[in-house]
Amino acid sequence: MTETSSLPITAREFHLAARPVGVPTGANFALVERPIPDLADGQILVRNTWMSVDPYMRGRMDDRPSYIPPFQVGAAMEGSALGEVIASAAAAVPVGATVTHFAGWRDYAVVDAATATPVDTSLAAPQHYLGALGTTGLTAYAALTDVARVEPGDTVFVSAAAGAVGSVAGQIAKALGAARVIGSAGGAAKTALLLDEFGFDAAVDYRQGDLAGQLTAAAPEGINVYLDSVGAEHLRVAVEAMRPGGRVALVGAISGYNGVNEVPGPDLYLAAIKELSLRGMLVSSYFPIFGEYIAKAAGWLADGTLRTRHTVYDGLDQAPAAFLGVLSGANIGKMLVRLA
Ligand SMILES: NC(=O)c1ccc[n+]([C@@H]2O[C@H](COP(=O)([O-])OP(=O)(O)OC[C@H]3O[C@@H](n4cnc5c(N)ncnc54)[C@H](OP(=O)(O)O)[C@@H]3O)[C@@H](O)[C@H]2O)c1
Repeated sequence: MTETSSLPITAREFHLAARPVGVPTGANFALVERPIPDLADGQILVRNTWMSVDPYMRGRMDDRPSYIPPFQVGAAMEGSALGEVIASAAAAVPVGATVTHFAGWRDYAVVDAATATPVDTSLAAPQHYLGALGTTGLTAYAALTDVARVEPGDTVFVSAAAGAVGSVAGQIAKALGAARVIGSAGGAAKTALLLDEFGFDAAVDYRQGDLAGQLTAAAPEGINVYLDSVGAEHLRVAVEAMRPGGRVALVGAISGYNGVNEVPGPDLYLAAIKELSLRGMLVSSYFPIFGEYIAKAAGWLADGTLRTRHTVYDGLDQAPAAFLGVLSGANIGKMLVRLA
């Protein structure tokens, strides 16, 4: 039996209007209103209250094979979101539950209950489940505990350090016993925040140029671990600064996502002669430890070990602007869209 409260009849959702060439614009998105279908057995209707915009979505706007299929022109976009269940045809997920799911970019979502995850909003405010307690937090944790394991005493370098993954990563590196954690970000306001709020020991502003010189000054004896979110010049400079036996977590390569201003990557011969490990990762491989991570990170949030920031755009119609903003650095911490 479907359990309901007062229900909306239509939902608004973003469609991919056209594939971008280079940097996307508002013209690549279309906001479409559609009737909400009746729930089938096992489905829930969710009123989305928060949605995530993430750099990887840029890749889904292109028509090329990847680890996740491309968005289709004229079809709804998707991504992580959180909301309240307002109708349920699934006994396990009742009306009133707060769930995360993958039907973002819309205000109301019909979701198979089996693909939704109820979250405990007594542990942390709901929006954290799209940030520090969500996939970006898990990415930082997995990168530094498994992919490029931080050992006590290490010098750790983190790029895109004022962003969602990076700001959490710097603090996790310290919690794992790193002796020195260096962050790279764009602009003086962000580098100040790395030092004053996110616990980094040193910060470099890549927009000032001479990234190699700045990193050498911050880590004269080199680095042991690098969490790479940027690729290209950041990765090249980090490989040069690596001590023998160093580890690199290849998490992202945002400098190339728009396919413009690409610069050469690292000299991998250096990786050979320094016996470095460079290892890629996908956060989905770590979903089996998601619950364990959330419990740990919620404790860190509660006791102040982990400090977070959110940059919030209000209203579904602002989702494309928020997404374009995360690609260009308009965010501090996790970029989110508040829908209700
Ligand atoms: N492998 C996985 O499973 C996985 C999971 C989650 C995220 N990721 C990756 O992790 C990275 C960070 O993701 P996020 O969600 O935490 O985003 P984010 O760091 O919150 O936002 C992206 C940031 O990248 C920086 N940036 C943009 N263009 C840049 C450039 N050309 N050079 C240097 N920095 C640039 C901007 O900060 P500035 O103002 O400092 O430039 C921007 O704020 C991305 O590469 C993403 O694809 C991977």
